[in-house]
Amino acid sequence: MGLKQLWLFLFVLLYFVSEVCVDCIAYIEPNINLNISKIATKFEFTNLKCSCPIKEFCTVDYCYLKSVNRTYKYASIRINVFATVTNVEVNGETFKRMNGYKPFLYNVTVDGCRFMENRNRNPVANYLFGFLGKYHNINHTCPYSHDIIIDKLSIGHVNDHMMEFLPFAIGSYLLQASFSIDGIRRLVLQFYGTVS
Ligand SMILES: *[C@@H]1O[C@H](CO)[C@@H](O)[C@H](O)[C@H]1NC(C)=O
Ligand SMILES: *[C@@H]1O[C@H](CO)[C@@H](O)[C@H](O)[C@H]1NC(C)=O
Ligand SMILES: *[C@@H]1O[C@H](CO)[C@@H](O)[C@H](O)[C@H]1NC(C)=O
Ligand SMILES: *[C@@H]1O[C@H](CO)[C@@H](O)[C@H](O)[C@H]1NC(C)=O
Repeated sequence: MGLKQLWLFLFVLLYFVSEVCVDCIAYIEPNINLNISKIATKFEFTNLKCSCPIKEFCTVDYCYLKSVNRTYKYASIRINVFATVTNVEVNGETFKRMNGYKPFLYNVTVDGCRFMENRNRNPVANYLFGFLGKYHNINHTCPYSHDIIIDKLSIGHVNDHMMEFLPFAIGSYLLQASFSIDGIRRLVLQFYGTVS
């Protein structure tokens, strides 16, 4: 191999090790100081599902993903609610796909009304709630007597929030939020995405 080819080979190898294979380095040399933002990868929404099992309680007006261009994608949801909510149990669960979606990392249930009075009471729920950013109309205490709107929740925000605490490994994930009253599920929101 000539000098030129050798340089090229080293360059490609270095590039691979530094950019593509951060996980390999972490594996080989666990004590090395890795800048987490290098591992930070790209999140994409792949699907969005909304369901109202009890039609007397709510119906799904719209629930969709939209790609405006390569960098700007968002999720929008509107749920028509036909009751005044004074108590609600909220469950947030994250799943990772491995032969079907399997429970992964988080499964928290909170009293929704108490939680909204003081969000710092439950840091995990607060983190999950943070995925909605400022793109919603539920940032207030009970009662709730209006439609639930998530307005143009951008992928950029979800990405930033995901990488804020811990890097997620490459894979497909599902974040599911369920809202129950009197032990009966009334509304289920499912956000599917991939980290690549
Ligand atoms: C990690 O890298 C980013 C950008 O490359 C930089 O802004 C940040 O300060 C670095 N963090 C640490 C702990 O070195
Ligand atoms: C994508 O669309 C958003 C909103 O219309 C705009 O602000 C942004 O500049 C666009 N980006 C590109 C790369 O066209
Ligand atoms: C998550 O927690 C809820 C309530 O504690 C429970 O009903 C549910 O089965 C749990 N999910 C999994 C996958 O274990
Ligand atoms: C929710 O409202 C509180 C108080 O009005 C405000 O401090 C907080 O920043 C809001 N959070 C979001 C995500 O909009």
